[in-house]
Amino acid sequence: MSKLRAALLGATGAVGQRYLMMLSRHPTIELEVLMGGDSAGRAYGEAARWLVSEDIPDRFADRKVLPTDPRNAEGCDVVFSALPAEAASTVEPEFVKAGLTVISEASAHRLEEDVPLVIPEVNPDHLGLLDLQRKRRGWSGSLVATPNCTVTGLAMVLKPLSDSFALRRAIVTTMQAVSGAGFPGVPSMLIMENVVPYIKGEEEKVSDESRKILGTQSEIGIRSANLQIAISCNRVPVIDGHVETLYAELGKDIEPEEAVDCLNRFRGAPQELGLPSAPMQPIIVRPEPDRPQPRLDRLSGSVPGMSVAVGRVRRGLGRDSIQLTLVSHNTIRGAAGTAILTAELMDNKGQLGR
Ligand SMILES: NC(=O)c1ccc[n+]([C@@H]2O[C@H](COP(=O)([O-])OP(=O)(O)OC[C@H]3O[C@@H](n4cnc5c(N)ncnc54)[C@H](OP(=O)(O)O)[C@@H]3O)[C@@H](O)[C@H]2O)c1
Repeated sequence: MSKLRAALLGATGAVGQRYLMMLSRHPTIELEVLMGGDSAGRAYGEAARWLVSEDIPDRFADRKVLPTDPRNAEGCDVVFSALPAEAASTVEPEFVKAGLTVISEASAHRLEEDVPLVIPEVNPDHLGLLDLQRKRRGWSGSLVATPNCTVTGLAMVLKPLSDSFALRRAIVTTMQAVSGAGFPGVPSMLIMENVVPYIKGEEEKVSDESRKILGTQSEIGIRSANLQIAISCNRVPVIDGHVETLYAELGKDIEPEEAVDCLNRFRGAPQELGLPSAPMQPIIVRPEPDRPQPRLDRLSGSVPGMSVAVGRVRRGLGRDSIQLTLVSHNTIRGAAGTAILTAELMDNKGQLGR
């Protein structure tokens, strides 16, 4: 079968670079078009301030970055968007109106009621919203969003806890890597030897998006889950890999070992379907007392960076609560990897035209 033809918006950015790496060796997706803003017209290798430890794949280094225009994606089966939210708010609908399927990393459209906000292991059924979206907006293409980088790892852990133990409340503290703010991100004078206890808009995003992802689909959109989430977001001097601590209040008494077992056994549609970017085990619980750590665990999984590493699973204040720590790679599982997995899922379901 021929490969899916893909275009990438925001190709030069921190997330764009992860796409390039993941798609350079992808068995079913061919990245054909790179688009940018200020870098349009230049060779990719010159325009991108390269942040990944592996070199720019040869076949992309000389590729010309094109202006961000739907005409440049003509004939593409999928358009990945790694645009900043402000640009995404107007640019992405233009691509969709031109009949293209856009999978977006940006926050601009995530909470719109007819836009599926998808983690393939958690809520693949929300892609069913696309029929409503096309009907309502008269679009020939479709728009799918992927969550904020802090949400993805968290929602992947909340899902099995919710399904098995009737999760009621979550209290979360994050320690977020600087690459989560893109390039150049947080000035070094602010972050070195420091922790910044505020990330604008992040706490609202984490609770609203998590509730939407764990919600149920209805005829008029998604009914958000009735889950209380209290969250404190912090920026820390780590390059890649978000750390989050979770205190989860459950609807029943359990032993911590039951939570470990439940998280280790969690599987979703990508694993059942054997999708190329699906890690065999989406959540890996580490037994060591001092894990997970971003430097050691951000590339967890059979597809590096696609599994969430969990550790320190222990009892909370009562038998109906547990505490744990998780690490998730913010530009792989928290961005490019989840979007690519979503494209693979949509392709499997015949939702991408080829
Ligand atoms: N970093 C993360 O961990 C992470 C995780 C999940 C989601 N996200 C989201 O993913 C998106 C990209 O994040 P990032 O960290 O990669 O940002 P970034 O490093 O700042 O990169 C932004 C990219 O967008 C392009 N761009 C900027 N303004 C544009 C415009 N008006 N028109 C066309 N292209 C434009 C830039 O191209 P030029 O260089 O050519 O101007 C660059 O390629 C954001 O919405 C972010 O919130 C980020």
